[in-house]
Order: sequence, then C-alpha cells, then structure tokens
Amino acid sequence: MIKIKSAKEIDLIRKSGHLAATILKAAAEFTHEGVTTNQINELVHNITVQNGAIPAPLNYRGYPKSVCTSVNNVVTHGIPSDYTLKNGDIINIDVTCILEGYHGDTSLTLMIGEVSSQAEELVDITRQSLNAAIDIVRPGAYFGEIGEVIQDIADNYAYGVVREYCGHGIGRYFHEDPLVLHYRSGKKGEKMREGMVFTIEPMINMGSHQTRVLSDGWTVITADGSLSAQFEHTLLITGTGVEILTDFD
Ligand code: MF3
Ligand code: CO
Ligand code: CO
Repeated sequence: MIKIKSAKEIDLIRKSGHLAATILKAAAEFTHEGVTTNQINELVHNITVQNGAIPAPLNYRGYPKSVCTSVNNVVTHGIPSDYTLKNGDIINIDVTCILEGYHGDTSLTLMIGEVSSQAEELVDITRQSLNAAIDIVRPGAYFGEIGEVIQDIADNYAYGVVREYCGHGIGRYFHEDPLVLHYRSGKKGEKMREGMVFTIEPMINMGSHQTRVLSDGWTVITADGSLSAQFEHTLLITGTGVEILTDFD
C-alpha cells in the first residue's frame, strides 16, 4: 500500500531532501581527478553529521559506508575505497540522509576531466530520462508510465535499462511502497495521488541491461562490462503536478 504523507511528514521529508541535495552538491564540488572515493565518503559523512543528520547507508543491511560511489561499469551500491579517480572516469554519488527521522535520497553522475563522447552521451541521456519521467508525474498518472518514458528514450540509443534495482517510496523508511520500475513492464501500476513521496532513479547501461553483484554482496556491475550512469530525485506529488524535494537551485 502506498502511504499518503501528512503535511507534517511532507515538511520533514522536504527538509531532509534539501539537506541531501546540499550534501550531494558539496560532494560534487569536491570530486575531481586524484580524489579517492573514501575521501568522498568522509566528506559526506562529516557534512551529514554536522547538520544533525544520519547517513542512511551506514549499517543499512550491513552496508559499510556513508555514501555509495559507483564508478564506470559499477551500476549502483559501489562501496567507497582507496580507488583514486582518474581522467575519463564517470562516477555516481548517491547521498541519503535521515533528518528528524525522515529520509532524503538523491544521486548524480559526474564526469572526471575529459570523458569519451560516448560516455558523455550516456550521462546526458540518463539525466534526460529522469527529467522526462519527472515530467509525467501528477495526480491521476500511473506509475507504469515512468518506465515507458525512460525505456523509450534509452531504446533510441540502444542502451540497456537496469531492471533489478528500482525507485521506491520514501519517508520514515529508506525503502517503502511503491516499487518504481524504470523499464516498460506492460503493467499500468498504481494511480498517482497527491501526497505520495517516492524516488525515480534510472540506471542506464551503454550495453546490455543485465547486471551482477560482486562477492562483497553490494557492488552491482554491468554483466558485459559496459559503462552505467544514474540520476535520482526524491519527488512529491502535489495537487497539480510534482515537487522535486532534492533540487539544489
Ligand atoms: N541510495 C540507494 C537508493 O537510491 C540505496 C543505497 S542502499 C545502501 O535506493 F545500503 F547501499 F546504501
Ligand atoms: Co533511492
Ligand atoms: Co539513492
């Protein structure tokens, strides 16, 4: 069942979403060639705690760090390490914080230095697919439309849309109903209603949509070794449309 959030809860998720966006912006400004993903983790951890919040990933189902950093062929849930970013890498940074008991969740993919034109296109199209999906969100639309919009765009480039990991309801819990599919499933899904809060977070691969998980139990990589990009926002369905709760402008 998809919960309709109260005005008070929405206010708290809005605050948490704003903080998540602020942390992600700081992490993005800090990230460049020569920085390790552990240094990004440290920065995210410190800013989160300084703002009276908790980094949601830390100890979530045993996850060992405070942020996810997914480089190149890593689709999602990459674990920060001593890896040093190099020219031509792409990296997704996924920040989730808990402020006053409510979650905000947002991610983006950055390009380090000069990346190949193919990598740049993948990143641009992935961002566009998220924006196009956000554009259809309004009361009365169906959750199934999200995957249709994203898959239509990816198909134009013969990119693979990841299926195993989805957007999700969010609030008191990190992952709530509904499961938001990013691919065309043939199912209409539930009707959107004012007061629902959820993420859209398409993961798009330059090659096949298939993935596998490394033996650390977290790191998801593309099955064919191709590059993967991802963007994520936390969204509220308003009376007439959508409010992006993790915008940073
Ligand atoms: N932030 C991810 C999401 O968008 C979930 C990460 S779970 C973790 O749903 F444990 F890996 F942090
Ligand atoms: Co999410
Ligand atoms: Co996330």
